[in-house]
Amino acid sequence: MSGIEAFGTTFQNPVLLAAGTCGFGLEVAEVVDLEALGGFVTKSVTLEPRDGNAAPRVTEFDGGMLNSIGLANPGVERVRREKLPWLRQLERARVWMSLAGHAPDEYERLIEALDDADGFLGYELNLSCPNDQRRGGLPFALDAEVLPGVLERCRARTERPLLAKLAPNDPRLVETARRVAEAGLDGVTLVNTLPGRIVEASTGHAILGAGSGGVSGPALRPVGVHAVATVRSALDLPVVGVGGVRRASDARQYLRAGATLVQIGTATFADPRIPERVARALARAAA
Ligand code: DHB
Repeated sequence: MSGIEAFGTTFQNPVLLAAGTCGFGLEVAEVVDLEALGGFVTKSVTLEPRDGNAAPRVTEFDGGMLNSIGLANPGVERVRREKLPWLRQLERARVWMSLAGHAPDEYERLIEALDDADGFLGYELNLSCPNDQRRGGLPFALDAEVLPGVLERCRARTERPLLAKLAPNDPRLVETARRVAEAGLDGVTLVNTLPGRIVEASTGHAILGAGSGGVSGPALRPVGVHAVATVRSALDLPVVGVGGVRRASDARQYLRAGATLVQIGTATFADPRIPERVARALARAAA
């Protein structure tokens, strides 16, 4: 595989680590060869530091994982000071900064705080976190009134590539993706985790401290592949696929559905070497 030309650059292979599963790169660098991948997406950054939600934050079930981390991160100032400098020495891995906001203007303010720094390619706007209850649980991706303004103001503030990460439970996914295209963004990431809940059968108590969380892992794979195929058949907009990829054949499902790049997240918790193996297997098949 001679690389993928997309988003104004070359990805040496289509495999990225998904947001929230690899910190800011340095946290996993001893166990993952980041330079063997197409790149990665950072943990979502917010304007202020966030401690995150009540424990337990993560649990497993037979179809995958449920998590509610609550966007725990050091906040944009510390990320810029303490995390970005390390990213500069990467030569091959392409880095997307994931941004999360609670108010519509926070995304553009995050871009303003980061855009003149080095060490990353572009932004993935996390518009679909299922665990932020501040707006009544309605993420921006599902708010057709507010979303276009957020997208347009982000577009106006950067020339870097911009991805919008959308929700899997969007009854009007194609229209949402069309808004992303109309605002001039470079693509969509499909899909974020799916809202879910696991309760103790004997007591009815939710297992996660926050009550609900986001479903990821194998159960999400058909949802993600369908979302990619649906958007790609309707729009000429680049798509990054994510959800439930564990092996090369899973990644191939996303690529066949029309994804340009594929992210791997939950599977790396069981085995951090999976993304490298998937990347190698895809390259071998293409050779
Ligand atoms: C969190 C954010 C997400 O976008 C997601 O899919 C899952 C968890 C979080 O930080 O809680």
